[in-house]
Amino acid sequence: MKTVIISDPKDLNIAADIIRKGGLVAAPTETVYGLCANALNASAVSDIFAAKGRPSDNPLIVHISDRTMLYDLVDSVSSKAVKLMDAFWPGPLTLIFKSNATVPQIVTAGLSTVGIRFPDHPIMQKLITLSGLPLAAPSANTSGKPSPTNAKRVIEDLDGKIEAIIDGGSSAFGVESTVLDMTSEVPTILRPGGITLEMLQEVLEDVIVDPAISNTLSQQTLPKAPGMKYTHYAPNAEVFIVRGTLEKVAHKINTLIKDDHKSGKTVGVLATDETKHLFNHADLILSVGSSENMHMIAAQLFEDLRTFDDHHMDIVYSLSFPKIGIGEAIMNRLEKSAAYHIIEV
Ligand code: TXA
Ligand code: MG
Repeated sequence: MKTVIISDPKDLNIAADIIRKGGLVAAPTETVYGLCANALNASAVSDIFAAKGRPSDNPLIVHISDRTMLYDLVDSVSSKAVKLMDAFWPGPLTLIFKSNATVPQIVTAGLSTVGIRFPDHPIMQKLITLSGLPLAAPSANTSGKPSPTNAKRVIEDLDGKIEAIIDGGSSAFGVESTVLDMTSEVPTILRPGGITLEMLQEVLEDVIVDPAISNTLSQQTLPKAPGMKYTHYAPNAEVFIVRGTLEKVAHKINTLIKDDHKSGKTVGVLATDETKHLFNHADLILSVGSSENMHMIAAQLFEDLRTFDDHHMDIVYSLSFPKIGIGEAIMNRLEKSAAYHIIEV
């Protein structure tokens, strides 16, 4: 299949046509790029799973561009949900509701619930409005890889497999939406993301975090968001997070680099603007941004993980970041990309 690259917003009607005919279009959102299809067309949705190589038990989020679209897809909307929508929609917050019969089973992977998101990106909003349909959209990467935050990375994974890719520049947030389950007694974060726990707590008194998210050492607790149990965000390089005081971390990483070089491995380090000068022996040192600006780090993280692969690193050592605010989402992605290999020093 020849994939059309659309870079002029005037051509969005071409993309909307493809969606209406049951095809697949990758489009930018404020979090990461999404791989979109008509959420009401089971065959189009099944093509999403095929293009990504995604396990069929992992449900998709449905994207809308207007709050009224929500009421066609879900059973009921609580007053708590309305408060959250008032505060954070459009934006990087996915709310899980009981779904109604309109939503095909393949979208929800057979669950009785559905995740709905109203994204805050003019191109994605326009694509939904022009096609006149709710869009099922996972991140536009091959399953298991870091999510794409620009069109080049989407092309890398999906060129020739989907009808079109819309180039809308780099994603502002860089980590995916917060997934919040509104069907449990107390609203529960199933995936940390752009809207932080602290922000949610300013609107609702009671919000909890699914224990599976913070439970990194023993993996016995299965997460409620099926996607969170899979290997995810992983570059080809083997990633290790090294955690401790900066002095010890730098010493440890430099020692490890020497050992890895002896066994003929190429080694990358994911550092910050403030620390990158400490790792001169690495084969590739990338700064993910300044530790003063965690939002910039979120925006750069997936791109840096993919850059290590561009340069064929065998091993990547990464610094650790405080799990505060957006740091929760950053560390959740980083720990998964490292398959929970954390070296404490
Ligand atoms: O920011 C985002 O959310 C991006 C952009 C494209 O909108 N989308 C995204 O989709 O990250 P995806 O498919 O890569 O991740 C969706 C996550 C998965 O972990 C999935 O298991 C979970 O949301 N999820 C979806 N529907 C669910 C449901 N009904 N119950 C529990 N978890 C659900
Ligand atoms: Mg994904």
